[in-house]
Amino acid sequence: MQELFLAKNFPWQKSFDYCPPRLHPEERIREKELKALGQKVPIHHDCIQWIMETAPRSNPWSAERIVHELMAIWFGSVHVLTTTIAFAMHDLCLHPEHTEPLRTELRSDAYSEFERTGKGLPLLDSFIKESARLTPVESMSTRRQAIAPFTFSDGTHLAVGDWAVTPLRAMLHDDAHFPEANQFNGFRHVQPAVLEKLTGSNFGSLEAQEPSLLTDVNKHWHVWGTGRMACPGRFYAAAAMKTIIGQFILKFDASLVNEEESRFISWRSFIYPRNRTKVIFRPVEE
Ligand code: HEM
Repeated sequence: MQELFLAKNFPWQKSFDYCPPRLHPEERIREKELKALGQKVPIHHDCIQWIMETAPRSNPWSAERIVHELMAIWFGSVHVLTTTIAFAMHDLCLHPEHTEPLRTELRSDAYSEFERTGKGLPLLDSFIKESARLTPVESMSTRRQAIAPFTFSDGTHLAVGDWAVTPLRAMLHDDAHFPEANQFNGFRHVQPAVLEKLTGSNFGSLEAQEPSLLTDVNKHWHVWGTGRMACPGRFYAAAAMKTIIGQFILKFDASLVNEEESRFISWRSFIYPRNRTKVIFRPVEE
């Protein structure tokens, strides 16, 4: 199966062994069968094991399906994470009035608390959230396939096998969910009292803005999906984005070479940053 999978999908990888055999899903399936026969097998605490345990018990996934699931999660977590960071870097260039308050927050004691807990930094949290709101990498969310006929409250009917999604991008740009939705306000998600304390300002209009966190999952914020299948990696993703973007903010002033040039390409329902967009980084003088 390993060879078949490599040859079919990754001909360029045919020449090297990309993962040690004991990590291969086929080996794991064999181990599971041995365990069912009462044999002692190694215990694994990793992504492959999690995927196998997530599969329906009555109809366990094949090794090939497990590899596909693994790749989908890997592509999703790696690409969406990095492209979200790239858009946040663009927004730092386009809205430089946010840089000093962000830098002050990152230089404060709040940073060591963030390093200890992986949480906090409300200004940076909100800035990344605002960037992801106006430039979400994925335009749809919560993809679900009907396993039984289903009728929504507005009469929309799904037959078995039909797919439904939530219109993420449209929702994020809709005044019904975010007042003045097309305006970038990097600190709009911060609690007003916290914002006033940290910046001494309300940073633009704050009325009717509902404070929230980047990692929230609710009716306004489907970036991580919804319900029990919502992204379990979001706390890690938020901490990783804050760490990476935070280091850039602390060390560099950034600007776009050409602010007018289009920064996006679209592929299926994704919007990706263009690789030709150039950002200038100037070291911050301490
Ligand atoms: C900015 C970065 C990320 C975004 C926007 C994102 C978004 C999403 C979305 C929309 C889903 C589908 C949820 C649903 O259908 O309700 C999802 C699922 C998932 N994500 Fe993320 N994700 C990100 C990063 C990550 C990272 C870094 C990891 C792992 C470390 C991760 C692990 C997963 C997993 C395992 C699932 C599948 C959950 C399941 O099927 O039960 N994600 N993510």
